[in-house]
Amino acid sequence: MELSRRHFLRTISALGGATLIGRRLPLLAQDHGGHSAATPSAITNLEPFVDALRIPPVLKPAKVKKVDTYSIVMQTGSVKCHRDLPPTNILGYNGIYPGPTIVAAKNRAVSIRQTNNLPMSHVTGENGEMVHMLPAVHLHGAAVAPESDGHPNDGIDFGGGTRDYHYPNQQRGCTLWYHDHTHGQTGERVLKGLAGMYILRDPSAEAPLKLPSGAREIPLIIQDRSFAADGQFIYTLDAATLEAGFQGDYILVNGVVQPFLEVETALYRFRILNGSNSRIYKLALSNGDSLIQIGTDGGLLQRPKEVASLEIAPSERVDVIIDFTRLPLGTKVVLRNLNDAGSTAQVMRFDVTKWVKEKKKVPQFLQAWDEIPEKNTVIHRDFTLQRQTINGSLTWTINSQAYNPANSPLATPELDSIEQWNFVNPTNHPHPMHLHLVQFQVININGIPQEASEFGWKDTVVVPPASELTILVKFSGYTGRYVFHCHNLEHEDFAMMGEFEVMPKT
Ligand code: C2O
Ligand code: CU
Ligand code: CU
Repeated sequence: MELSRRHFLRTISALGGATLIGRRLPLLAQDHGGHSAATPSAITNLEPFVDALRIPPVLKPAKVKKVDTYSIVMQTGSVKCHRDLPPTNILGYNGIYPGPTIVAAKNRAVSIRQTNNLPMSHVTGENGEMVHMLPAVHLHGAAVAPESDGHPNDGIDFGGGTRDYHYPNQQRGCTLWYHDHTHGQTGERVLKGLAGMYILRDPSAEAPLKLPSGAREIPLIIQDRSFAADGQFIYTLDAATLEAGFQGDYILVNGVVQPFLEVETALYRFRILNGSNSRIYKLALSNGDSLIQIGTDGGLLQRPKEVASLEIAPSERVDVIIDFTRLPLGTKVVLRNLNDAGSTAQVMRFDVTKWVKEKKKVPQFLQAWDEIPEKNTVIHRDFTLQRQTINGSLTWTINSQAYNPANSPLATPELDSIEQWNFVNPTNHPHPMHLHLVQFQVININGIPQEASEFGWKDTVVVPPASELTILVKFSGYTGRYVFHCHNLEHEDFAMMGEFEVMPKT
């Protein structure tokens, strides 16, 4: 029988990609516990804080009528991640790692032409066919039409294939990121460098707040990596990685191993993204000062929140102000990761090197909170997250299904309707669950009602081990098919993903 590539992909993904040669899932004991150790680097003892933080360049758009247009080429490149490392080969948007930053403004559309000049990559299918792993690009956190969302079926051809992505930017100002969404290979391609930040500003909401800006508004993309002796990133899908997700043994910020940043005695705004495959960080300052959180995935909180530490799971964003105003010159403050010990316990360092008189203050009020009316809920759905053997392979599932774009959607919400989605996690792993298209509110954890405004607008939320968590979602904007999945990228690739289809109003 002749199978079209798409049909073939459907067939293989029914098994969660498990029949692709070289990507067969080993059978593991069902309750092999807890977290994996990190993949060990061949190079140990890289000295922290010897390289300066780099800030990804902001791309300049061409202004075509009412649209900012960009052209980005996915291609190989190389980057120095640390003083003592040889250059690392990467896959990058415009060949750089992390990718360039896009800065957009609310209600002004952006159009990005993505060109695929990545080295051809394929896997061999069951019957010896060659299956090309076509990259798709997803703008995480954005409300966009299905054809611009980077659906796994919408990959871009190798050898200079292009696709235009349209982003209307009609949502709250927030920190988004764009990243690879290749069917079954997102973990590997994001790890090799295909990720960048996308800042959506809402001038009318933000300008009156006079938040730190310019050189004092800094994106921090936190990722963990392991290095081979020749400086290359290691990515091995061994049994522990397939279960717990990839973890590196060095922390990088904006592509630099444990950098330092010279700061003035002023307020700084950091837009922090956890761009790691699976590691969850608990951020805190070594001098005991608090972090002042002002925003989440979906934009500004109602009021700033002073916290001693902040947990951030893969793909979550936190918008944070750090106050360096009272620190003597020469002070060095380490941004720590309290979840880990050893080389992964330190993220970066701030060195106070210059005195200035800071006139800014942290505003007491940020942005009005809009409650989604819970009483208008039309349906309550349960999604159980599990590790199960399907067709002889151990895989991650949602409601006992391994992802397959050919399956019918797991949910069919009506446009503009409000639903409650309850994620049930009987496993001993945390699952950062993400819905495309929407920003949602967290209303219940383990039967205990939550104050949604404390969580802020979210598009990714951790469902803790042995727990249940309910979100309240309004499906606005577009009809059509979108995915939702665990953002532990190895869980996502090995099938903890499903689809929902927003249906026209009846
Ligand atoms: Cu960042 Cu499908 O997600
Ligand atoms: Cu997304
Ligand atoms: Cu997961």
